[in-house]
Amino acid sequence: MAVQTLDTQVVTSLVRAATAAPSLHNAQPWRFRFLSDSATFQVRAALDRCLPQADPHGRALHLGCAAALFNLRVAAAHAAWLPVTRLLPDPYDPRLLATVRLEPPPPPARAGAAEELAMLTDLADLFPAIRQRRTSRQPFRDEPVPAEVRELLVDAAEREGAHLRFPPPGEAWIILELSQDAEGRDLANFTTSGTGQPAQLALLGTSEDRPLDWLRAGQALERLLLVATGHGLSAALTSHTPEWSEPHAPERPQMVLRLGYAPPSPATARRPVPLVLEID
Ligand SMILES: Cc1cc2nc3c(=O)[nH]c(=O)nc-3n(C[C@H](O)[C@H](O)[C@H](O)COP(=O)(O)O)c2cc1C
Repeated sequence: MAVQTLDTQVVTSLVRAATAAPSLHNAQPWRFRFLSDSATFQVRAALDRCLPQADPHGRALHLGCAAALFNLRVAAAHAAWLPVTRLLPDPYDPRLLATVRLEPPPPPARAGAAEELAMLTDLADLFPAIRQRRTSRQPFRDEPVPAEVRELLVDAAEREGAHLRFPPPGEAWIILELSQDAEGRDLANFTTSGTGQPAQLALLGTSEDRPLDWLRAGQALERLLLVATGHGLSAALTSHTPEWSEPHAPERPQMVLRLGYAPPSPATARRPVPLVLEID
């Protein structure tokens, strides 16, 4: 990892990586502002890109922006910057979802540096998967996800403050029955073509259901999607209905995923970086 200077080209390339994130209906509901004096990115909600019908409370907007925030952290680490991140830093400005201050990595001899440097390497290692990750719409092969890979995905979600679990087949059917695809897709595609059994379903949840939890869930989603991509897995995403998101449930479901092996999916388009980035 060679330390780079923060010129316009580098800042643009970091934001380009951020915008490869998934978002509901590919709405790309984000804006970035780079404050050169403090080497700090602001990640903002783009209210002109929100979807009031499909996403009345802004949960999906937060999930998508947080997935982009996670990519920004990965790209910064790959460029040898320590991304010091704060979520919802200004209580008077709820559209300011996060700030990411770029700092040089600590010298290895400094107390606590080993942990920070290991965290940086873990993030940087995910960089190649940013370009490879795609939401799959293909039928999945009837092939289980190995237990050790499932453990890595659970760990990925935990690291970002969310939980991932793999419901047993009986519960998976119930989840599918109660789920409703936010993009109107037929959830029959969530079953394998071979056996009619649900493919490996995974449920991403948080303990509470506030904007802060959505930001944690979105970063957890992207971290686990990048880990999955690195292990050759495909993922399909579907949103849930409120019927099984009871206010007092111990787990607040944020996303249903189907994980497995599928043919490659085509890339989807992104808005050009100059439309979403302002540099001060
Ligand atoms: C919060 C959120 C909700 C999503 N919900 C669905 C969904 O219900 N059904 C679906 O097919 N895709 C869903 N997606 C995936 C998006 O359609 C996909 O990310 C977008 O089209 C961009 O494509 P890509 O992920 O291949 O880059 C969702 C993505 C996010 C972040």
